[in-house]
This record gives sequence, C-alpha cells and structure tokens, in this order.
Amino acid sequence: RVAAPSSLVLFGVTGDLAKKKLLPAMYDLANRGLLPPSFSLVGFGRREWDDAQFAEYVKESIADNARTPFNEAMWEQFASGLRFVHGNFDDDAAYERLAETLTELDESRGTRGNHAFYLSIPPKAFDVVCQKLADHDLADSNGSEGWRRVVIEKPFGHDLESARELNAIVERVFPADSVFRIDHYLGKETVQNILALRFANQMFEPLWDARYVDHVQITMAEDIGIGSRAGYYDGVGAARDVIQNHLLQLLAFTAMEEPPAFSAHHLRREKAKVLESVILPEDLGAYSALGQYTAGLQGGAEVKGFHQEQDIPADSRTETYAALRLEINNRRWSGVPFYLRAGKRLGRRVTEIAVVFKKSPNLLFRSPDKDDFGQNAIVIRIQPDEGVTIRFGSKVPGTQSEIRDVTMDFGYGHAFTESSPEAYERLILDVLLGEPPLFPDHSEVELSWKILDPFEDYWAEHHIMPDAYAPGSWGPETADQLMARDGRVWRRP
Ligand code: BG6
Repeated sequence: RVAAPSSLVLFGVTGDLAKKKLLPAMYDLANRGLLPPSFSLVGFGRREWDDAQFAEYVKESIADNARTPFNEAMWEQFASGLRFVHGNFDDDAAYERLAETLTELDESRGTRGNHAFYLSIPPKAFDVVCQKLADHDLADSNGSEGWRRVVIEKPFGHDLESARELNAIVERVFPADSVFRIDHYLGKETVQNILALRFANQMFEPLWDARYVDHVQITMAEDIGIGSRAGYYDGVGAARDVIQNHLLQLLAFTAMEEPPAFSAHHLRREKAKVLESVILPEDLGAYSALGQYTAGLQGGAEVKGFHQEQDIPADSRTETYAALRLEINNRRWSGVPFYLRAGKRLGRRVTEIAVVFKKSPNLLFRSPDKDDFGQNAIVIRIQPDEGVTIRFGSKVPGTQSEIRDVTMDFGYGHAFTESSPEAYERLILDVLLGEPPLFPDHSEVELSWKILDPFEDYWAEHHIMPDAYAPGSWGPETADQLMARDGRVWRRP
C-alpha cells in the first residue's frame, strides 16, 4: 500500500542514524513507489542551512547509503518536497517557522494536515520538543482533517523509572495511539517471519513447549566495536543497548501464544503476557556474565580495545558483552531456560534464535560425537544469511548404524526472488500508513526494564567489572561458565 500524502518532520537530521538509515530509507520508499509524489520531508536542526543545502546533504546520504539505484527523475520529485527549518529545540521562533512550513506544504503539495514528527534525538530532548510542538499547536490536529503522529527512537530511558517518565512526557502531548516507538528489529523480515513460521504451519507448534524443548539461545553478535558512539554507549552497555529491547522482543516473539489477529492490540497483549511471566534466576551473579573487548587482531586487522576507543574513560565499567539466563513461568515454558547474549567485536556478525530440543529418550544408534549428537534444533537465522536451519541426526551411509547430525536449510536468497525491505523502510511506511503492530507500546517497554533492572542493580551494587575478551572471540569465559553450570554450551554460530 502507498502512504497517504503527508509530511515528516525529522529532528536529529545530522545524526548517524538519519544519515545512514532514515534518509536513505525514505528515498528508497519513494523509489519503490510506496510514497506519494507529494511526500515532504522537513529537516529541523541547528545548522544554518537553507532548503538547497539540506537537499545537498540528503542527496549525499542517499548516494552513500540507499539500496535502490539513484534515479534522477525520482530524486527531483523527492527533492521538491525537502525543506529545512533551522533552530534550537527550545526556540519558539523556530517552531513558528516549522508551523508555517507545514502549512505551506499542506497548501502547495496537498499533504492535508498529515504530519509525523520523528524524534531521532537524545531522550533528554524529548520533553522540550514535545512541549514546544504542543505549545505551537502542532501535536494536535484539533479536529481538522489530517493526523499527527510522533515517532521515537530508543533508548526509551535508562531503567524502569526513567522509561515511565519518558512515556508520561510523550503521552502528555500525543495520545497513546499516535506514538510509534521504534525497535528496528521488528522491521526485519526475518523477525516477522518468526510468527509466520510458528503460526502459519502445523508442524512446529506441537513441539514448541517444555515437553520437547530443552532450552532456547538468543544471540546477537556483532563484529564491529563501538566506533564513534562513546557518547551514547558509555554508561549504557550491551544489556541496555540491545537486550532490553531487541533481544527481549525476540524472546517474546519466540515464546508468545498465537494472537487472535495480527493487530497491534492483540500482538502487544500476547507479548506483554510473556514478558510478565519472565522469572529471573535466584543467583543473578551466577546467571549473568559481562565482558569488555580488549585490543587485538580481528579478521587479520589490528583493532582497539574498548578502553582505547575515542572518549572512553580508562576506568569505564561499561560492558560490551552481556549474557543472562531467564525463565518463563507459564504452562508452555515452565523449566525451559532462555539464554540471551549480545556483544560487540565477537567472532562474526550474526543474530539467531536457536530452539534446542531434548534428546530422544532412547538412543539406539551410535555416534562418534556422543555429546552433541541427537540434539535437534531449529535455528532461526535473523541476519545475515537470513533463513531457518533444522538440525537432526541421520544415518551415516555404510554398513554400521552410525548417526551424524545434518542440517536442512531454508535461505531467503534461494527461496524468494523478492528482496526484503530494509527494516527502517518498513517501519517508516507503517508510521505513514498508521499501522502500529510492529511498534512496542509503553507497557512492553516498561516490562522489559522490569526484567533488566534487577540485573543492572546487581551489577552496580556488586561493582561487577566486565571480564576481558579478545576481539574475534565469542565473549568472556564467565559466559561459558554460566552455561556449564547448567551442563550446556553456547552454540558456535
Ligand atoms: C542498535 C544498537 O539498536 O542496533 C547498536 O544501538 C547496534 O549498538 C545495532 O549496533 C545493530 O543493528 P543491526 O540491525 O545491525 O543488527
């Protein structure tokens, strides 16, 4: 479906996210014919740019990062809707100029009062921006034609308390159903496919519970370091950066019950039920592990350690790797551990969910590889190399009854000719279409902090110093010990 005529106001245009993801995603949407010709984009920021300078900046970001080929005619059309309003976030005059600009676009391009405000800015600025939008009558369409929506980027706070404050600030100005919280993992095709795999098929769901599943491992490994993001990352760390949001959303998709419909209300309710049923280990120290990457070689190249990264204090306790164990206290999952881990500068970039099954009760066959053999698994490969792998034992050809594990693979690249839209393309389009199923609501955000806060408090109170791990490795030894305590091992993706 094509979005309705509308304007999107982007706060934080010069940030990394806007440059690498948001601006190219909008252009790609236009290029794919999913935005109407009247779509207009207003940049709001401190730079003293005019519209032409803004257009130049957008064009560069597209040239470097867009996924669709550059098309001059499409660019002309896209560029005709670009405007720039310069000012500080607390500058009333700038909001007046913004209001005039939006009215001008409504009149000249027919955007009909449909305005989305995308806050790709630090959360400490949410308050002032939301308040100024309200003061200048921009947040509410006051019964006139047209909708008003606000899009907010993570981090949604630092802990439960700050998340509640942020939610209150945003929802004081925008009604709950016009707030779109971005968790870009939900924009990924492979994440949406978790629900299709589970609920559009008959063969998986009967096995998807504590009777058959031994445990679940959710891994988000990155090979990059923190780059130039010290300002954001230091004091946040891997657990707050990605476990609180992306990994807990993956857990919710993996463990939730089938919703009555694919609507925001039903999906959010089922996810919230899972998050509410999560129970934490009694010994938070034994069932969590923190790590920090050291300097060394990765893929043959010399890389800096976390403490040598630009603007990271030498005594920073911020973790670049975190692993923890959770359980879900409901009939379906009781007693099945969910192990979550995320880290930077690991062996390779891979996000996957491995549902590992119990062994067959009666092992008639022999295997040279005794420990591992016979443990069936369904691995949902979120990225890269998107697909699903099923692992099972098979008889080794020959006269002996020997079994070896083999895999059966589904890969998006082989199965489909259609390409997957970038996560941000899907999510921005959904904002403009007013379709909220892929956006977590405030209760999910708060429930996720309720799960993470006790770990964070424990680490802070016990002054846990992350353990060193070498770049290109799979994290600190303490993470392996966490698994060994349960007689299990991490998968090597
Ligand atoms: C972001 C985190 O949410 O996700 C980053 O803040 C991380 O630290 C990024 O690098 C990873 O996203 P993706 O889509 O590349 O897995």
